[in-house]
Amino acid sequence: AGREEVNTNIVSLTRFLTEEQSKVKEATGDFTLLCHALQFAFKSIAYYIRRASLINLNGLAGSSNTTGDDQKKLDVIGNDLFIAAMRGSGKCRMLVSEEEEKLITFFDSSPNARYAVACDPIDGSSNIDAGVSVGTIFSIIKLADNAKGSAEDLLMPGTELVASGFTMYGASAQLVITMKGGSVNGFTLDTSLGEFILTHPDMRIPRTRSIYSVNEGNSKYWEEPVKEYIESLKYPKDGGKPYSARYIGSMVADAYRTLLYGGIFAYPADKKTVKGKLRILYECAPMAMVFENAGGKAVNSKMQRMLEVVPEHIHDRSGIFLGSADEVQKVIDIHKKHG
Ligand code: AHG
Ligand code: MN
Ligand code: MN
Ligand code: MN
Repeated sequence: AGREEVNTNIVSLTRFLTEEQSKVKEATGDFTLLCHALQFAFKSIAYYIRRASLINLNGLAGSSNTTGDDQKKLDVIGNDLFIAAMRGSGKCRMLVSEEEEKLITFFDSSPNARYAVACDPIDGSSNIDAGVSVGTIFSIIKLADNAKGSAEDLLMPGTELVASGFTMYGASAQLVITMKGGSVNGFTLDTSLGEFILTHPDMRIPRTRSIYSVNEGNSKYWEEPVKEYIESLKYPKDGGKPYSARYIGSMVADAYRTLLYGGIFAYPADKKTVKGKLRILYECAPMAMVFENAGGKAVNSKMQRMLEVVPEHIHDRSGIFLGSADEVQKVIDIHKKHG
């Protein structure tokens, strides 16, 4: 290939983080080092997920977690890899994981660390034995100077997150990350280089798209406004074309498609799961931050801005509508009609 075909100006995640750090004059480099530990966790989880069926890592671990989910072997491995990477970074003081009932504190190894991380080590794990794309979701919190080192330090609205994102382990490993008030950037893991390469700079979600993503198996339990909203997509009153249904059942995969194509993802609170199923700290808030920074919207089942919802405990749940600004607005308008 001639010079014009070969892209020699490759932006790796490492270079991206260095450039981001140079924009923050009081930066100490701690956040950058924390992100390097995060990317190592994603690379190691990707490695084990790709080999799971070869080394008998599919199936159940035989335990369940505090939110009542049966733990898959990969839930436990992903959790252990993530904890080790965060502890080893020396930059993380506390860690919330879906797979850990209690908050993990790294007082012994990093008492002065100023960041806390909340994570869903393997999201979509119920599908993992079927080879469906799963992912890791994370939120990064910068602790206040007077942080006590307990869970209360983390029970804050998503607007306070300094960064969030996810890695989807699909055909390739896709990392999407955003900083507070910043843009959304997507990276693809180049396994031969062992580097995440910037492939989707400044991701913007389309304002509208006729795709909806919800588990219709819960229709029986939905509140009236939700039923009316979904019906309006399937039987459009204005005689327009009905929406397409796309539901993978793995939030990271459904969210990544929605971010790229547009549309709406919904996991409403309903009569069966009154608080909703998805967890605020490591599913709803990080995803809401990514979508808002990409020009989208995210609200809970009370039509409150998702990023303003304060979790009552580290595994607190919420209903969520997440996606293109105009699609989420349709949900809000229908709920307003119901008063
Ligand atoms: P996790 O695998 O981390 O427990 O999360 C599962 C979540 C989320 O990934 C997905 O959107 C949702 O559960 C699917 O729930 P249903 O199977 O009830 O549709
Ligand atoms: Mn789970
Ligand atoms: Mn999850
Ligand atoms: Mn999970």
